[in-house]
Amino acid sequence: MGSILQCIECGRQYPTNSLIYTCDTCGGLLDVLHDLDALKATATRALFDARLGSLDAPYDSGVWRYKELVYPDLDPALIVSRPEGNTRLYNVPKLAEWAGVRRLHLKHEGENPTGSFKDRGMTGGVTQARVLGKKRVACASTGNTSASLAAYAALAEIQGIVLFQNKQVALGKLAQAVAYGATCIRVDGDFDRNIQLVRQISEELDIYVLNSVNPFRLEGQKTIMFETIQQLRWEAPDWIVVPGGNLGNSSAFGKGLKELFDLGLIDRMPRLAIIQAEGANPLYEAYKRGFDRMEPMHAETIATAIKIGNPVNYRKAMRTIEWTNGVVEQVTDQEIMDAKALIDAQGIGCEPASACSLAGIRKLTDAGIITKSDRVVGVLTGHVLKDPEATIAYHRSELADITPHYPNTVYDSAASLESLRAVLEGLQEPVQV
Ligand code: F0G
Repeated sequence: MGSILQCIECGRQYPTNSLIYTCDTCGGLLDVLHDLDALKATATRALFDARLGSLDAPYDSGVWRYKELVYPDLDPALIVSRPEGNTRLYNVPKLAEWAGVRRLHLKHEGENPTGSFKDRGMTGGVTQARVLGKKRVACASTGNTSASLAAYAALAEIQGIVLFQNKQVALGKLAQAVAYGATCIRVDGDFDRNIQLVRQISEELDIYVLNSVNPFRLEGQKTIMFETIQQLRWEAPDWIVVPGGNLGNSSAFGKGLKELFDLGLIDRMPRLAIIQAEGANPLYEAYKRGFDRMEPMHAETIATAIKIGNPVNYRKAMRTIEWTNGVVEQVTDQEIMDAKALIDAQGIGCEPASACSLAGIRKLTDAGIITKSDRVVGVLTGHVLKDPEATIAYHRSELADITPHYPNTVYDSAASLESLRAVLEGLQEPVQV
């Protein structure tokens, strides 16, 4: 048996070349399922280790290194790849100490070609657009998905269309989508409204939707788990901690980890912690109520990437929490920006939403849920240069209701040795940027 699409609610199946995002019968989300029993013999640690450092497409990609588990039957000639993945896993002892654990790694997905984890999904999604013969692709986005879609559409030589929320798109992301040549439309509505609009317009105008409702995107994103665990020499950590917005990553991680476990590539499941911003926390609220239902909300947070009040992948994220015995936590904008400043000051850096991971780890250790001896991996989802305005405003103390606890000051000096000496000897009062 090859791969199939299957509804996570009613189990109805569809061929992988169907133009479909949710189940025709019940509206449920779809999984791309592979025949794991048949793959057991080929999808081995040895195979994936042998491809590390490959110079040849498609295995030079950190997504397609795992092709057998991403899209086994696919003709490699159809793959649209930059190539993505192969991101670093940083050992961060100082941040570990701050967060209250002995061993902490940060998996930096901001090191993808367009500066966010979205590239791992986009290679899957745009490749599927090619499989289906689609000439136009679209997404609604808080910024990173649009940057990634724009780049991959350019590579595939098809039209990329991006719908932005009208406010608070980080400058770096907007600049990328414009620069890569996408059709950029600023819609007078928030992300949640834009998600609805993109589905509607796509049906009318024969445009392929590349938001994370698209299951082929999640197949790419689950490789963040494969690569992290391979970098840990196939030893599963105790905890994986990830920010949650539209919950595509959380959903993909749960599926990927379960597949690794079912294939015997790891011998136990890590626990997953999904961290939301307090002002955009519908999953957290539902979790607290035992997942009775998800209440859409109006979202507000400095972490604009995750300013989402009605996450599309709620049901898959719920399933991830079940599969991984996971937890959901929330952090304030203050905690997010302080954690970001600490990650940045390590010379690593990330955008605000990514810092939910570190802030969340600290909160969970304070609560005794993560313990000091646990081995923890936090996922950084976006690059420090994505949102320079938030970074500068933090260090200048210009963010409403946020006190920078880890500020760095820019000094002014006249163009003279004396003045520089005065600055460096600390004789001059610091001047803000
Ligand atoms: N971190 C960053 C930097 C993001 O851009 C996003 C999502 C998330 C975390 C949350 O991931 O949605 O899988 O739970 N950004 C989307 C976008 C929504 O449009 O770029 P998620």
